[in-house]
Amino acid sequence: MDENRNIAQLEATLAELGCINRIIEKISRVRETNHIMSIVIDELVKLTDSDQGVINLVTPASVDDLLTVVRKSQPSVDSLPWKVNNLVSGWVLRNKRTLKVDDLDNDDRLPGQSSENGRFQSLLCCPLLARAEAVGLLSLVRSRDKGPFSDDQSRLVSIVASQSAQILSNALLLEELARKNELLEISHKKLRSEYDRLQREVNATFAFENIIGKSEPMRQVLMMASKVSANDSPVLITGPTGTGKELLARAIHYNSARKQKPFVVKNCGVKTETLLESELFGHVKGSFTGADRNKAGLFKEADGGTIFLDEIGEAPASTQVAILRVLENGEIRPIGASATEYVNVRILSATNRNLQDAIENGTFRRDLYYRLNTITIDLPLLRDRRGDVPHLVYHFLKQIAIKLGRDTLSITPAALDVLSRYSWPGNVRQLEHELERAAVVCDPDNPIDICDLSPELLGSTAAEIDTSGYHGKLREVVERVERDLLVSTLNQTDGNILKTSKILGLTRKGLKDKLARYGISAKKD
Ligand SMILES: Nc1ncnc2c1ncn2[C@@H]1O[C@H](COP(=O)(O)OP(=O)(O)OP(=O)(O)O)[C@@H](O)[C@H]1O
Ligand SMILES: [Mg+2]
Repeated sequence: MDENRNIAQLEATLAELGCINRIIEKISRVRETNHIMSIVIDELVKLTDSDQGVINLVTPASVDDLLTVVRKSQPSVDSLPWKVNNLVSGWVLRNKRTLKVDDLDNDDRLPGQSSENGRFQSLLCCPLLARAEAVGLLSLVRSRDKGPFSDDQSRLVSIVASQSAQILSNALLLEELARKNELLEISHKKLRSEYDRLQREVNATFAFENIIGKSEPMRQVLMMASKVSANDSPVLITGPTGTGKELLARAIHYNSARKQKPFVVKNCGVKTETLLESELFGHVKGSFTGADRNKAGLFKEADGGTIFLDEIGEAPASTQVAILRVLENGEIRPIGASATEYVNVRILSATNRNLQDAIENGTFRRDLYYRLNTITIDLPLLRDRRGDVPHLVYHFLKQIAIKLGRDTLSITPAALDVLSRYSWPGNVRQLEHELERAAVVCDPDNPIDICDLSPELLGSTAAEIDTSGYHGKLREVVERVERDLLVSTLNQTDGNILKTSKILGLTRKGLKDKLARYGISAKKD
């Protein structure tokens, strides 16, 4: 008799193991978490003859938040009432073990709950534990007519839940990883396209199109610069302060084959001899007081690209020798180093000093001068290319408007006239600053006018004005200027009398009288 029972028990255990094995094998073959959970719930609802089965996952945000992921039930069966569901999940998450309820109406652990006429009479809820943490819950519900879950069923469900929790947790991790990878790829793509956009912007900003110069002297400069961009020879850029030497050097680099490599700027004027040499060529630790570690120099940093040595005329004698060495064979030697290194760097240099004088009085090496100025580009004074002033003004006004967040910025012909006649000792830089200042002080609803220009500019206008274009009797000159101003303002306002009178500070009648006197006709009133 006992033997028969043992055999029956053994057979039941074998059948149970077979079931577990079949389910685990099935879910091991799939990767997607929802699919895994559907298989588990389907199998367990069938095996235990339940009316419904649900898997909830703990959300990453909080353990108390549960997300129903799969629910399997006959169409006529409602979900478990919200309160019961909450109490059951709370109990299982707290105790981290299976809860088996045989009769919901009379269970001490869930006092006061109703099975709703036996529809939710018995429950089985197991935690899905992976690495001792609950990733979710698995619940099964049976109605009164099916009777409570047996202990064997409870054991089987608990084992399947714990086995599948491991597989489920791994699949969840994999999905999370895939999602993060996808996000990473998206941000990588975004970064790449942002980098490309910035690169295009840099190229455009320093391209020749951004150097304003329609006058003959500037056309010559730009033609030369464009030619030298195509090769690697050193270029010496000369010209007074603010004429655009650095801007031109950048344009040469960004239009050359080296444009993807660094453009490094070094002013040779302000440093002590050792400091300048160490910045340009680097140093080894301990080579002088304060050299507490090895440092690579700017020539190394610019390797493959271009270095722009500004104010080259100020470079001390020993630095001049070292620069000559790079020019001759690409050789650099960090201060204190025993070995030399080699770099491939194009050298552009600039000066606003007369290097010939410096050679004569012995402060600049003749041999270096001849190496640096294989090609010399001389930038003209702004007052020697007045025709460029209006173009520069419109170019800067566009840039300043963007900088100040204004839609547009304009200027009256009278103010433009003052700008065009001024002598500009600080050249283009001074013009740019003057416009920045005027844009800030001017009335935002009106164009920049004469009164917005700096006192220094206005004060010296009379003295600085180029009067070479004026000759004849004073009255005739004044009339000529008045007539020109009327015509150019009318052109600017497209013949609008009201606007023109406002700009010129005249009444409408006053303007009309003047137009009649000069025989000028206007299109619009
Ligand atoms: N032709 C030009 N078109 C547009 N902007 C220009 C032009 N020339 C100069 N600029 C602008 O004027 C300013 C001064 O130019 P840059 O610094 O190149 O002059 P520089 O000759 O190097 O002066 P410095 O000798 O004082 O160093 C810069 O903001 C530059 O962008
Ligand atoms: Mg400069």
